[in-house]
Amino acid sequence: MSSEKKITIAVDGYSSSGKSTMAKQLAKTIGYRYIDSGAMYRAVTLAAMRAGLVGKDSDPDIDRVIDLLPTLSIDFEITPTGQNTILNGENVEHEIRSLEVSSCVSPIAAIPAVRHALVRMQRSMGDSKGIVMDGRDIGTVVFPDAEMKVFCDASAEKRAFRRFEELKAKGADVSYEEVLENVKTRDHIDETRDESPLRCASDAIRLDNSDMTFEEQNNWLLNLYNSKIKE
Ligand code: DC
Repeated sequence: MSSEKKITIAVDGYSSSGKSTMAKQLAKTIGYRYIDSGAMYRAVTLAAMRAGLVGKDSDPDIDRVIDLLPTLSIDFEITPTGQNTILNGENVEHEIRSLEVSSCVSPIAAIPAVRHALVRMQRSMGDSKGIVMDGRDIGTVVFPDAEMKVFCDASAEKRAFRRFEELKAKGADVSYEEVLENVKTRDHIDETRDESPLRCASDAIRLDNSDMTFEEQNNWLLNLYNSKIKE
């Protein structure tokens, strides 16, 4: 593989495993497009919540969520500090990260028709390679032929602590226990759903970043990329 050749990079893993942070940083360093596929599931969830089709304590109205899909457009807007998720022309980046959306997203992401629609969009975004996409099924389903695949993990407690700190920094009124419960519940739903459950692709490289700093994990990923493009 020559260094000019663009490749596809899949970064999968558990919620709050730090995969987005490192995937985003790698894309920036090597000049690739970054796509946060979780943001797409969150955007669909927000639209379903606004339409009253799912709530914290109620199962989604699957048929009506499916009817909603063709009315949704999801895009990303690059900003100097990161990127915004745009749902039907509205910047929903802040809202989709709330604990309310986090509490409803896994049942929505388990609906096969939702997954099929988003996988189609994700594949078309990766048509011309030169992309880093993170999620749960990128290396297994979306881009099974990706040249580089990473699977991230860290203990549930570490991941919950990181998400708690992020939410607190944004002024959210949540407790660590609530966030830990949300992380564990989402792990369970993501791992046990019938449609493309969260699992490590057989050809992915696993990274447990429980005890790594951001800088260490960024360097680890960049080194892996540098060795891949020399192959
Ligand atoms: O990465 P995240 O926490 O923002 O993802 C939100 C939810 O979306 C997560 O609970 C699982 C789901 N998801 C998925 O099923 N497949 C993906 N490719 C990305 C996310």
